[in-house]
Amino acid sequence: MKREFQIPERLETIIEKNLNELDLSLSDAKKIASAVQWQSDFYIENPNQTTPWKDRRAQIAQWAYYLPLNFLRNMSVIAQLKQTVPLDAFPGAFDYGAGLGASSWALRESGFQGSLFLYDRQPIAAPVLAPLQAENPLRWEPRSHQHHLGIFSYSLTEMQMRNDLLNQVPYVIIIEPSTQKEGRRLSETRDVLISKDYEIIAPCTHQKDCPLLRHSQRDWCHDRIFFKKPKWMAQIEKDLPFRNDSLTFSYLIAFKKALMKPEWQAPEGPLMGRLTGDILPEKGKSKQLVCFDEQRVFLTWMHKTKIDQTLPRGGLVEVPQDYDLVANEIRLKKEIKYLP
Ligand SMILES: C[S@@+](CC[C@H](N)C(=O)[O-])C[C@H]1O[C@@H](n2cnc3c(N)ncnc32)[C@H](O)[C@@H]1O
Repeated sequence: MKREFQIPERLETIIEKNLNELDLSLSDAKKIASAVQWQSDFYIENPNQTTPWKDRRAQIAQWAYYLPLNFLRNMSVIAQLKQTVPLDAFPGAFDYGAGLGASSWALRESGFQGSLFLYDRQPIAAPVLAPLQAENPLRWEPRSHQHHLGIFSYSLTEMQMRNDLLNQVPYVIIIEPSTQKEGRRLSETRDVLISKDYEIIAPCTHQKDCPLLRHSQRDWCHDRIFFKKPKWMAQIEKDLPFRNDSLTFSYLIAFKKALMKPEWQAPEGPLMGRLTGDILPEKGKSKQLVCFDEQRVFLTWMHKTKIDQTLPRGGLVEVPQDYDLVANEIRLKKEIKYLP
C-alpha cells in the first residue's frame, strides 16, 4: 500500500470557497494560524469535549487545517480497507461525527459511489453536503444502515457510550488521535469489539490480545503516513509552534463476523506482521517493533549481516517461518519481505 497521499485540487477549491464565506482565503496564513493555535489549545485542554463549532475560529481551523489533514488520514485507512474488501461491497456509508466530512471526502476520492450519510450533533450545512452528494438525516437509525460502512474519524473521543454505539455498526472504521491515552483506549475498544464477535481486519493481523496493552504500561499502537504538503499549509505552519510533516493516528477496522462475506476472509498464507514502530538504531543493530500475535517483539537485524532495509511504520511484513527469538528479538538472517 502506498504510504504517501495528497490533497486533491477539488478539495482545495471547496476549502477556499468556504473560507471566503468567512471573509478569508487560504493565503491568509497568519489569521488561519492563529485560529489553528486556538483550536489546538482547546483540544489539548479539553481532549474529550465536543468541537466548538459556533466559534468562528473553530470553523476556520477546521476548514483550513483539520479537514485536509484528517482527509489524508482517512485516505490511508480506506486504502487499507480496500486491501481486504472492495468499496462497492457497501451500498452506502455513514460518517458519524462528520464535522466537515473528512471521511466522506476520502471515501469519494477513493472511488466510493454509494449513498453517503453524514451525522453530527450540529446540523451539516449544504456547502458540505452538496459536493459530496450526501445527506444529513435528522436522526441516527442504525437499522437503515445495516449493510453500510460506518466511519468514526476523530469523533469517538468526543462521545459517551461509545461501546454501545459501535455495537450497532457491523462494519466499522475508527480513526483516533495518536496520543498515548487515546491509542491505548482504542486498544481497549478493540477488546470490547472482539468480545462482541467482531473480527479485527486492521491494523492487527491477529485476534489475540494486543501485545502493547498486555506487556507494556506505556506503548500504544499508532500509524504514520506521509503527504505532499501544499505551499499554503507550509505558510500557515510558519506561524505555528508545531508542524505536521508526517501524520500519525490510531485506527481500527472491524467487522461483525456473522456479517462477513466468505470472499473477505484472508486467504491462507504466510504469517503476516504489522510494523508498529519506527526503526530504532542501536549499537551494532537496528530494531523495529512488529505485531503478529500477543508477543511484544522486535525484528532485529545486526549491521554485520549487511541487511539494508528501511521499512515504514504501519506496513505489513512476512514473518519468517523459522524465526529464532533472542529475548524479545527476532534476529533476521536476510531481508524481510515487505508488502507495499
Ligand atoms: C473533531 S471533529 C471530527 C470531524 C471529522 N470527522 C474529521 O475527521 O475531521 C468531531 C465531531 O464529532 C461531533 N460529535 C461529537 N459528539 C457527537 C455525538 N454524540 N453525536 C454526533 N456527533 C458528535 C462533533 O460535533 C464534531 O463535529
